Amino acid sequence: MPRLEFTPMRSHIGLSLALLMVVGVVFAAPLPNQSPHRTEGTVNCASSTCHGSITPLEGSDVLQNEYTTWLRLDRHTQAYAVLLNERSRSIARKLGLKTPAHATQICLDCHSHAPGPARRGKRHVLGEGVGCEGCHGPAEKWLAGHVEDGASHARNLAQGLYPTERPAAQARLCLSCHFGDDSRFVSHRLMGAGHPRLSFEVKTFTSLEPAHFRVDADYRKRKGTHEGLKVWSVGQAVAVIHLLETLTDPKRGRQGPFPELVLFDCHSCHHPMSEQRWSPRLGVGPGVIRLNDSNLLMLRAIVRALMPQDSAGFDAEVHALHLAVATGEAPPGKDYLDLAHALTRRVESLIPGLERHSYDAEVMRRILVALVEESRQSSFADYAGAEQAYMAITSLVNDLVPRGMKVDKTALRSAMNRLLDALANDEHYQPAVFQAALEELRARLQPAAR
Ligand code: HEC
Ligand code: HEC
Ligand code: HEC
Ligand code: HEC
Repeated sequence: MPRLEFTPMRSHIGLSLALLMVVGVVFAAPLPNQSPHRTEGTVNCASSTCHGSITPLEGSDVLQNEYTTWLRLDRHTQAYAVLLNERSRSIARKLGLKTPAHATQICLDCHSHAPGPARRGKRHVLGEGVGCEGCHGPAEKWLAGHVEDGASHARNLAQGLYPTERPAAQARLCLSCHFGDDSRFVSHRLMGAGHPRLSFEVKTFTSLEPAHFRVDADYRKRKGTHEGLKVWSVGQAVAVIHLLETLTDPKRGRQGPFPELVLFDCHSCHHPMSEQRWSPRLGVGPGVIRLNDSNLLMLRAIVRALMPQDSAGFDAEVHALHLAVATGEAPPGKDYLDLAHALTRRVESLIPGLERHSYDAEVMRRILVALVEESRQSSFADYAGAEQAYMAITSLVNDLVPRGMKVDKTALRSAMNRLLDALANDEHYQPAVFQAALEELRARLQPAAR
């Protein structure tokens, strides 16, 4: 569980000038690790007149202290360093790696920006972890031009800048390391050797990083909006696609006769037998392995709140997939792979709508209600789903309070703390305690979220 707190933050209310983006284009931009261009090195960004100012520069389009924020506060600077610690040495020993973790490509793939040697410029340093170009794309073609007169965001993108401002593209970037993709992946073998469980949500983690950008008038003029809740909802859809793509990938989907275990709820296997906690949920019976449906649950609530006409169809497809994965039962002539492919296509088709949607206070309130409602259907029986729900609810409450939601802040804070307490120990998570805390929250939010 990331270090989170309920803090009424100042929100950036953006007009919904949604960029007209189709998924195909977003998914077509190569990720930084797959770009054909050369990586020039973070040192090129570090000067105080570039992005290394100590404080934000007034009168400039961008803050210009991005490098300073990254260097001082961003965990990505430690991503390589952790490969040298005892935990990494132990992981490397248990996996029987031939080289130490910091010299092993499968670790460097996520713990640094490590393109092939031919694409590494002279000043690129693996040891600086996930640097600017690890997210913004190798700078060979855009470095000089992006500060020239006549530079524009569109030209930068054409020259290989990664479109981080587009929600689906950002989510795909973050998830490529925080979940994995077809070029890098933390399998259950890695987890078994001691790699931590990965838990992630794009909006929350963007503020935790912390964000080194400010969405103001000139940002909107250059790039359109960057609405937190849009990033969250699109992020959930992209996370579901990552899960389903892994499930259906013959390389990553299986380990010998078994499916890849990281796709399932960790705690459905990893909890003491004396703590019997099964409850009727989403159509799968007791004693079967459960797909990690945390992002699917969020997406169900999103669809119910934003696209009610699609809700019944979506729920039916999710239910059918759960059943097919857990028991092999599927409609005649189909198996779980067919169902997973169909659901992937459905989720892909939702993304443009989620990107175009506006996320005003009324929409936020509807999503909040839908999430609390999930709990009444015992949906948060597993830790991972409850954790996602907590991150979403925190974001929503933080966005709604400054927009005038009428609520007793002290009581709200105590309800949020109770939710967080229910998540304190993943191995001894008790769904009933989390659900009771959500009911308290529901009472506090009335009449806002009745
Ligand atoms: C698919 C990307 C990916 C791969 C591959 C990967 N990691 Fe990680 N690793 C992560 C992410 C993301 C985190 C941070 C998890 C968090 O805090 O949410 C992490 C965290 C860790 C941590 C805990 C760091 C801490 O701050 O305590 C260690 C140790 C670690 N990884 C070692 C390794 C080693 C060794 C390898 C290679 C065998 C490896 N990782 C491969 C993505 C990856
Ligand atoms: C973990 C990924 C990540 C890393 C590492 C990263 N950025 Fe960013 N950066 C983002 C995201 C996401 C945004 C917000 C979306 C956008 O506007 O592109 C952003 C935005 C920016 C912006 C645009 C602000 C604006 O108003 O348009 C600048 C400039 C920037 N980053 C510079 C840097 C620099 C310099 C570094 C290295 C010191 C860096 N970034 C490292 C992800 C990253
Ligand atoms: C190239 C791989 C990579 C990419 C891309 C990436 N991350 Fe990370 N991220 C990591 C690794 C590895 C760690 C763990 C570092 C450590 O433990 O020191 C990490 C850690 C973090 C943390 C700290 C988590 C904690 O437990 O304290 C946050 C927050 C975070 N990333 C957010 C993001 C966001 C938001 C994006 C997308 C804009 C992103 N990351 C993209 C690899 C990546
Ligand atoms: C289908 C059941 C199942 C699921 C789901 C599952 N695991 Fe495991 N896990 C196992 C088994 C079996 C072992 C091997 C136990 C042993 O060696 O004694 C194991 C071993 C481990 C170990 C090493 C424990 C040890 O004693 O050395 C870790 C850590 C771990 N799993 C983490 C996870 C995480 C994190 C997830 C979810 C992302 C997960 N597991 C999902 C069954 C599962």
